[in-house]
Amino acid sequence: MSTAQKELVYVEHCKGVNGLDKVVLREVRGCSAEVYLYGGHVTSWKNEHGEELLFLSSKANFNPPKAIRGGIPICFPQFSNLGPLESHGFARNRFWSIDNDPPPFPINSSNKAFIDLILKHSEEDVKVWPHRYEYRLRITLGPGGDLMLTSRIRNMNTDGKPFSFTFAYHTYFAVTDISEVRVEGLETLDYLDNLKNRERFTEQGDAITFESEIDRIYLSTPTKIAILDHERKRTFVLRKDGLPDAVVWNPWDKKAKAMPDFGDDEYKHMLCVEAACIEKPITLKPGEEWKGRQELSAVPSSYCSGQLDPKRALQSG
Ligand code: BG6
Repeated sequence: MSTAQKELVYVEHCKGVNGLDKVVLREVRGCSAEVYLYGGHVTSWKNEHGEELLFLSSKANFNPPKAIRGGIPICFPQFSNLGPLESHGFARNRFWSIDNDPPPFPINSSNKAFIDLILKHSEEDVKVWPHRYEYRLRITLGPGGDLMLTSRIRNMNTDGKPFSFTFAYHTYFAVTDISEVRVEGLETLDYLDNLKNRERFTEQGDAITFESEIDRIYLSTPTKIAILDHERKRTFVLRKDGLPDAVVWNPWDKKAKAMPDFGDDEYKHMLCVEAACIEKPITLKPGEEWKGRQELSAVPSSYCSGQLDPKRALQSG
């Protein structure tokens, strides 16, 4: 059989950095994604030209129990330091398992490149977060190269107690030059400024641009947000469901230098836009399940900007 005829391996189980278990998803046109079982963490998403679309720090640790810097960390059951747990909760530094028998959910049957992961309470975790849960994560690479993450979290408590949590898909987008990036879809919204004791402000102007550190939780955001990389003429479109908030974060130069697992100049090449549920935590009674979904696509700029605002697309050519 010639290489061209060789059948595509849509889902490959292998070893990644430091021998950690990794799953590679591939699609016909050549796009791919990589997922570490450690953290249930997407570390790579490439388009059909092999271009990396997610930022992963050159100094990222693949050394448990440290979280991996870049890609898509999962923040659960706590966003940031909004509670008694470690920053962003513990899901991003636990070993997830392959879920070989996930309960069915309506999904496009043309998707072949997907993996189901599961994280459950451990006796260790119950000491810091006294709840029993099942967290199922499906990661899908669509035939067109879109990357979809669906989280299903169920309360498995047997003591009749509900639990509450906050959540984020902490996506690190790769951008060419942060000073040439703008985010559309968050105009005129209220946000909590993490740099000002989470005081509430209202966003002014039209699109968000970047010239200094930013760390904000935008509230009641639309289901679609666009991140425009002018230099690369690429637009990321983030679609979300069940996730009303959106965090925008770039550490800029000073904070970058203070982070041991982040290069001094790397802030220029990344932007976090995080589909989240923070302001109003999710509460589940025993037996109840919550679902939160994000879908990422990368398209040529003019096309997508036009979708969001035709006038602006014409102006920017
Ligand atoms: C963002 C937070 O989501 O994550 C920031 O809004 C935080 O406040 C950043 O600094 C990175 O967090 P960590 O724990 O991965 O260093």
